Amino acid sequence: MFSRRTLVLCAILVTCRADLTFPEHFKLGAATSSYQIEGGWNADGKGESIWDRFVHENSADIKSGATGDVAADSYHQWREDVRIAANMGLQFYRFSISWPRILPTGFTDKINQAGVKYYSDLIDALLAEDIQPIVTMYHWEMPVKIQDLGGWTNPLIVNWFGDYARVIFSQYADRVKTWLTINEAIAICDLAFNKGHYAPKIKEPEFAPFLCNKHILLAHATAYRIYDREFRPKYKARISLANFDLWIKPATENDTELADLGRQHAIGRYSYPIFSKQGGWPPSIEKLMLQYSLGQGYQYSRLPPFTKDEIEFVKGTADFYGINHYITSLIRSAKPGEDPGIWVLTGSPELNAILEFPTNSKVANSIFPVYPEGIRQQLSWIKQEYGDIDILITENGFGYSTNDYELNDVDRTKFFKEYLEQVLLSIKVDNVSVIGYTAWSLIDTFEWLDGYTIKFGIHEVDFSHPNRTRTPRTSAHYLACVIRARSLDVPDHCYKDKYLADRARIGYRSGSHKIQAVLFINILLIAIIICV
Ligand code: BGC
Repeated sequence: MFSRRTLVLCAILVTCRADLTFPEHFKLGAATSSYQIEGGWNADGKGESIWDRFVHENSADIKSGATGDVAADSYHQWREDVRIAANMGLQFYRFSISWPRILPTGFTDKINQAGVKYYSDLIDALLAEDIQPIVTMYHWEMPVKIQDLGGWTNPLIVNWFGDYARVIFSQYADRVKTWLTINEAIAICDLAFNKGHYAPKIKEPEFAPFLCNKHILLAHATAYRIYDREFRPKYKARISLANFDLWIKPATENDTELADLGRQHAIGRYSYPIFSKQGGWPPSIEKLMLQYSLGQGYQYSRLPPFTKDEIEFVKGTADFYGINHYITSLIRSAKPGEDPGIWVLTGSPELNAILEFPTNSKVANSIFPVYPEGIRQQLSWIKQEYGDIDILITENGFGYSTNDYELNDVDRTKFFKEYLEQVLLSIKVDNVSVIGYTAWSLIDTFEWLDGYTIKFGIHEVDFSHPNRTRTPRTSAHYLACVIRARSLDVPDHCYKDKYLADRARIGYRSGSHKIQAVLFINILLIAIIICV
C-alpha cells in the first residue's frame, strides 16, 4: 500500500525526538539604555537632556528622589559591562546613545569628541569579545534645547533627528550592523503626553500624542533614508525601530472587534505606516479619530494626515520588526458611567474601553503581569498583519519591586524559561521568523519614575559601592547556559551549586517536557499527513 520510501520517511519522522534547539541564525543578547545606566550626566562636555532636567527639578516625582546622575556609572564602568556580557557569552549587546552626549545642544554646531570616543571604545571592546553591538539612537534623551523648541511636537525635529543620525552613522557605521532609531515611540508620544508624568512633564493628551506620532515616524524614516543613501552601499547594516507592543486580547468573545481596534490604536499607529503594503495610518484608526474629533467639536481629525509623499517616504523603512514585549492586556467596553481613564495605562477614551491584566498573571512582586502565551500570540499577529518579516525581540524582562531575591532571582529565571519556550514554539510550530531575543536588562538600572526600587537586571548592581559592582544573578547563569547550549534543554551543571535547591521551583524539567511534547505532536502530525 505504501512505498518503501514513504515508510522509511515515516519511521524517521515518528522516531526522531523533537528538539529544543534554537535555529543557527537566532541570536541571544541583553540590553540597557544610556540614561538608565551611564551616569556622568554632565561629564566631559555632555549637554543636558530632558531626563537630567526632569529629575533635577521634580525629585518628588521619583521614588526616593533618585536621579540618573551616577546610576550604574557605566560611563566609567563600561569595561565591566563588556566583561559580564562576554562571561555570559552574549551574542549581542543592545545599548543606546545619548543624543546630548554626542551633540550637547542637540544640533551639529558642536560634536563632543569625548562622547564620540566613549561609544567608539565600547563598540570596539564588544567586537573584540565577538559581541555584536545593537545601537539604539534615541532611548528618551532629548537635548533640552530641542525640547524648548517643541521637541517631538515641532515638525522641524524630523530633520534635526536626521542630522543627529548622520553624525552617528558617520562615526560608527563601519562597525555597527544593527540599528534601532527610536525606542518605544508609544511611550514617548502617548504615555508621556497623556499623563504628563515623564520627561518633558507636559500633559497635553489632545494633540501632542498625535503630532508626536507623525513626527517620530517621519524622523525614523529620515534616518533610515539617510542610511540608505549615504551608508548602506558601503556598510549594509539592518535598521528598524523598537516598538513597545502592548498585546491586547478581547476580555470576552463580544470584544473581538474592539480588541482589533485596540491593537491598531496601540501597535498599528506606529507600525502600519512602516510595515503595511498600503502605508499611512491604519484605516480603522483614521476613521475612528475623525469621528471622535468631530464629536468633540473639532473641524478635523486630531490625528494629522500624511501627504501622499509622506506615506511613500515612511513606507518600507525597516529591515526587520523590532518588538519590546512586556504586557498582555484584556480589553472590554466601558460600562455606562465608567471612566476609561488614560490610554495605554487603563483604557482608551476614543474606544470607550477599559484595559485590565489577565487574572492570575501576577507573579510575586513583578511589576508587570506574567503571561508567556501573549508573546507567541503577538508574534503570530505581527506576521499576519505585516507579512513574513524577520522579528527581533528587542526587550523582554521581569522587574520586581523589592530586594526580595538578591541574587537568587528564581521567578525571573522561570520567566525567561517560559517566555523563551513560547518564542521557540513561535519559530518551530507557527513558522514565525524570530531572529533574536533580548533580555532586559543586562544590569540593574535607573527605572525611570521608580528610581532604583524596581530591578530588572540579570546582574545585580551594588548602588552603594563606589565601583557599582556587578554580580550575576541566577537568571544570568541560566541565560548563559541557554546561549552555550543553543537550546532550552540545559544540562544540570549549568546551575551554580548554591542555587541547586531552587531547581525544582524553577520547574525546568517539567517545563521542558511540556514544550517537547508540543513539538513532538507537531512532528507526529506531519508524519501522519505524509503517510496518509
Ligand atoms: C523601556 C525601558 C524600561 C523597561 C522596564 C521598557 O519599556 O524601554 O527603558 O526600563 O521598559 O520598565
